[in-house]
Amino acid sequence: METIKRPETMERITTPALAKAFIDEQVAAVRAQVGDNKVLLALSGGVDSSVVAALLIKAIGRQLVCVHVNHGLMRKGESEQVIEVFRNQLDANLIYVDATDRFLDLLKDVADPEQKRKIIGGEFIKVFDEEAAKLKGIKFLAQGTIYPDILESKGVKAHHNVGGLPEEYAFELVEPVKLLYKDEVRAVGHELGLPDNMVYRQPFPGPGLGVRCLGAITRDRLHALREADAILREEFDICGLADKVWQYFIAVPDFKSVGVRDNKRYEGWPAIIRAVNTVDAMSATIEEIPYAVLHKITDRITHEVEGINRVLLDLTPKPIGTIEWE
Ligand code: XMP
Repeated sequence: METIKRPETMERITTPALAKAFIDEQVAAVRAQVGDNKVLLALSGGVDSSVVAALLIKAIGRQLVCVHVNHGLMRKGESEQVIEVFRNQLDANLIYVDATDRFLDLLKDVADPEQKRKIIGGEFIKVFDEEAAKLKGIKFLAQGTIYPDILESKGVKAHHNVGGLPEEYAFELVEPVKLLYKDEVRAVGHELGLPDNMVYRQPFPGPGLGVRCLGAITRDRLHALREADAILREEFDICGLADKVWQYFIAVPDFKSVGVRDNKRYEGWPAIIRAVNTVDAMSATIEEIPYAVLHKITDRITHEVEGINRVLLDLTPKPIGTIEWE
């Protein structure tokens, strides 16, 4: 990654007016850079790539070609939202690739977390490359690089770049938000009219639910994880915790225990709740969830999700636990 420095004189984007000025400036800069050429973008639906997509659609409309690769490890409703917002509402030139089977077939029986990450990252690049090869003559690649990525590219979070693209691509890069901090990217996204649940969403790792479906991923356990995670998110929205907690999710380990459902023996996996607060993800504290909320979540998950028969709460701060379970 190039080493670029944010000018000390650059004002922090804290108001809609500053966001609008930034957008106007970048729209002009992008038009000047790419002319009437096409630009390719891997659109994951995360904050950074979504904001870049919306900005480029404003600048160059359908000259931007977005590729959304569904690796089958997205949270419930995520790929659907990408299609709804970008294809239906913003009229984006969006290629949607459902590569679920490719990823899950490759991940079958692979239990080692690092191996899983490598497979997911490697296959992502392959799928993206295949799509890029079909579109002849594209010279520009847009990326949602943000300033912390540049600052951290040689630091401890290097292993997090799974899902990113290799640096040796022969494309000229278009990186309109590369000098912005996360809060500024969100301010710009909000000003561009992206929905709040896209702009203010919590961080989600590139390998997605793959790092939370512990051990070798199976389709039934992945499905259970996705449904349980959706219930957790729904209930956090209802009780107001969603606005207060930095990151919250479910992890599902690959072992079962005995339970009882409908008066019959019912073997199921446990769903583990993790809800943490942090400033920089280097250390994290535990959010105190009211017992009434925990009871409701437990009741819903154990009754509504096939395969889950217990709900556990992880009370471990970071350190000593990492935020993710893998
Ligand atoms: P850990 O588990 O190391 O996670 O305490 C720290 C933060 O990083 C997020 N994370 C990732 N983010 N790509 C990302 O963009 C990744 O591959 C990745 N893996 C972990 C994690 O969710 C937590 O917020």
